Amino acid sequence: TKPKEPELPLFFGWFLLPEEEERIKCATMDFLKTLDTLEAFKEHISEFTGEAEKEVDLEQYFQNPLHLHCTTKFCDYGKAEGAKEYAELQVVKESLAKSDELSVTALIVTPRIFGARVALTETQMKLWPEGEDKEGVAPALLPSVEALPMGSRAHVTLGCSAGVEAVQTGLDLLEILALQKEGKEGTQVEMDLGTLSYLSEGRWFLTLREPITADTTFSSFSD
Ligand code: A2P
Repeated sequence: TKPKEPELPLFFGWFLLPEEEERIKCATMDFLKTLDTLEAFKEHISEFTGEAEKEVDLEQYFQNPLHLHCTTKFCDYGKAEGAKEYAELQVVKESLAKSDELSVTALIVTPRIFGARVALTETQMKLWPEGEDKEGVAPALLPSVEALPMGSRAHVTLGCSAGVEAVQTGLDLLEILALQKEGKEGTQVEMDLGTLSYLSEGRWFLTLREPITADTTFSSFSD
């Protein structure tokens, strides 16, 4: 009999340590609580509710994911393109179970998702797969995504609205970054945490005054 091939995981990524997860959840929930009370947000409430007068409790609106993490490579147990090659990279094997600190520089809210933008260091970029930024991106958005620096998609999904899958966070983040690059930012509001800007169709982007750092472990995950 042939030796069994090692099985590939659902995905690889940096996982926040449990105590860090709590800290980040608290800090980001505070932001959501404030956001849905802002006049600027209320003006665009229909983009979340479908009705102008209806209120929304963003804390209830988004469901929390199980473990906070920043995906590097979605492998889908080997079904995703380049999964095996990624798992076999020396840098991936050497990084497994190692600690690393992630830096969150912005928070994003859309009618679909709530997420944190992660700024990767040069060392962390070595674990970011070539071409991963444009995986699953709509053809119309591809040229703008290709013009963004590599690793622009790096993020932590903090919540999804009903029926939305976590993969949406990276796609919404790229769309926001592309709009910013075109200078399409609207209303800006100063908040304690930083500057909030509106980018049409219910998209909100908070640039943090101070990055939020979080200790993580690089690891693979299988359900
Ligand atoms: P994300 O990294 O944006 O949070 P699921 O539970 O839906 O199977 O996903 C497991 C993880 O893999 C999630 O973190 C999810 O999104 C990410 N993910 C799911 N599908 C894809 C995909 N097609 N491309 C990249 N990442 C994905």
